[in-house]
Amino acid sequence: NTDTYLLNFKGYHFERSMVDVNLFENLDDFEIRDDDVFIITYPKSGTIWTQQILSLIYFEDHRYRTKHVDTIDRAPFLEYNLRNVDFLSRPSPRIFTTHMPYYLVPKGLKKTKAKIIYIYRNPKDVLTSFYHFSNFIVTLESSGDTESFMTRFLDGKVVGSVWFDHIRGWYEHRHDFNILFMMYEEMKKDLRSSVCKISSFFEKELSEEDIDAIVKQATFKNMKSDPQANYNHVVKNEVGTKNSDGCFLRKGTIGDWKHLLTVDQSERFDKIFQRKMKDIPLKFIWD
Ligand code: PPS
Repeated sequence: NTDTYLLNFKGYHFERSMVDVNLFENLDDFEIRDDDVFIITYPKSGTIWTQQILSLIYFEDHRYRTKHVDTIDRAPFLEYNLRNVDFLSRPSPRIFTTHMPYYLVPKGLKKTKAKIIYIYRNPKDVLTSFYHFSNFIVTLESSGDTESFMTRFLDGKVVGSVWFDHIRGWYEHRHDFNILFMMYEEMKKDLRSSVCKISSFFEKELSEEDIDAIVKQATFKNMKSDPQANYNHVVKNEVGTKNSDGCFLRKGTIGDWKHLLTVDQSERFDKIFQRKMKDIPLKFIWD
């Protein structure tokens, strides 16, 4: 039953067993600092990858590995505060991560200097990543067959609610925020240029050596074997699994939906996508 796993707050689905409900009361007046950074994503769109990139850009001791801190502590989730970080006493610059829709984030994020990076990924790969993840993590309802999972995804009966609503909301309200839209596939195809684009948006001057160090540590291969970055600790200590053959860093490719969706399912998805996204000029890469 979906309600066992999801918590509906103001029309948006949070992961019930993990969400910090105390936060809901304080969200409106949650104090935002000018140098705060927010990573905002729909789930399974490249969140932990972006946490890694932002942390490498912001923290020299991460870039050059002089201090070992898990990425989740460098860029904790606002609503899933698994390690009880005291956000108020955290030194600046604070990096936050959230899957929340535009209308739930702290009001202070509007019209401030605080910067947001919104990462989006083609939704067939999001669905595919979500499908596998739901069979792995104990706190999510298992996927069932592909057809029923696709229905659940399209109906928004998953953490993050309806993918189309999430991206539309953030896109249509982009002028209220200081926000950079980045595409997962663009990062995948040219990580170095993406790092440069991200660092210039955040006004971080980096040397060639810095960029080399960031790119090297943000590849899928490196992150997968880096215990600070791969979330294996989090899976083991804070989340729990249904089976042992899964991980956050599963494949990290473009177009894996071809291994999950049938031609018929893919075509039905395309039709819905075309209808729902026709007035949103964001670019997508499917393979
Ligand atoms: S979550 O649970 O919402 O935080 O998940 P999220 O981090 O958003 O998404 C997980 C997918 O991102 C892939 N990933 C990467 N791809 C390419 N390069 C790098 N460095 C990278 N890091 C994470 C991860 O493998 C998941 O995608 P799938 O398709 O399942 O492999």
